[in-house]
Amino acid sequence: MDTAYSLDSLRTTVHAWRRDGARVALVPTMGNLHDGHLSLLERAGALANRTVVSIFVNPIQFGKGEDYARYPSTLDADREKLAAAGLDLLFAPNLDALYPGGIEEDTRVTVPGLSNILCGQYRPGHFSGVATVVTKLFINIQPDIALFGEKDYQQVMVIKRMAHDLLMPVEIVGMPIVREPNGLAMSSRNEYLTAEERLRASQIFANLNAAAAKLERQDQSLIAIETAAMAVLAAAGFRPEYFSVRRAEDLTAPRVGDTSLQILAAAWLGGARLIDNVRVELTRPLATL
Ligand code: PAF
Repeated sequence: MDTAYSLDSLRTTVHAWRRDGARVALVPTMGNLHDGHLSLLERAGALANRTVVSIFVNPIQFGKGEDYARYPSTLDADREKLAAAGLDLLFAPNLDALYPGGIEEDTRVTVPGLSNILCGQYRPGHFSGVATVVTKLFINIQPDIALFGEKDYQQVMVIKRMAHDLLMPVEIVGMPIVREPNGLAMSSRNEYLTAEERLRASQIFANLNAAAAKLERQDQSLIAIETAAMAVLAAAGFRPEYFSVRRAEDLTAPRVGDTSLQILAAAWLGGARLIDNVRVELTRPLATL
């Protein structure tokens, strides 16, 4: 497995692949890799001839007081996992490589609307930071496909919209959430949980499933379902930010007649902000809200 630290060496390698007619996949990450990331890599291997994984903890997607400074950096262990998985190229730039002019005055890419709801409401500027760094990666790698985990469902939607609106010739692939045996969605931030919290954290997924069952029964209003889940999580020691039923296709509020819904939740447990979501395909279209 090769490692590129500079844009020059990244571009040289990828251009050579492309000259040979290879289809190129990109898996952008912030490192501290877990089985969720490895599932993206495996899928990339099935969809393309060559795969680049990027590892870069992107400062501009963290708000003031968030965990940028303590975000786990495990480059050596990550490198071993990627080499064992047969990766072609690891791109591990430093801050100067991606933000040569610094981060304050750097150009930003913003996807309006979608970026300001749900997580965006609690993390202003977060999705603009994500869209900006992903654009830099897309421009320099020019992947045919890019794969992202659907634990960050809203992030996948933002990147799909950005690629569509900016006419980026890349296919965005969202991949299913990989879970711990107790249902907790795998995340690099799960490391912030104590052993006891890690067990309790499975309640987010349990509540999403309970809400999905209620939605399928259609015997309660959406707001009643959301409010009850927030209360259950708060009673279990979480600090929930939102628990929300949305249209799966664009995350707007559900309408009568909808069948494809997404339930999304964000909640703090101890020092970890956890997010998760489930898809609900109703057997009967939504009759009331
Ligand atoms: O999901 C992540 O790890 C990050 O938001 C991403 C897409 C690598 C951009 O920094």
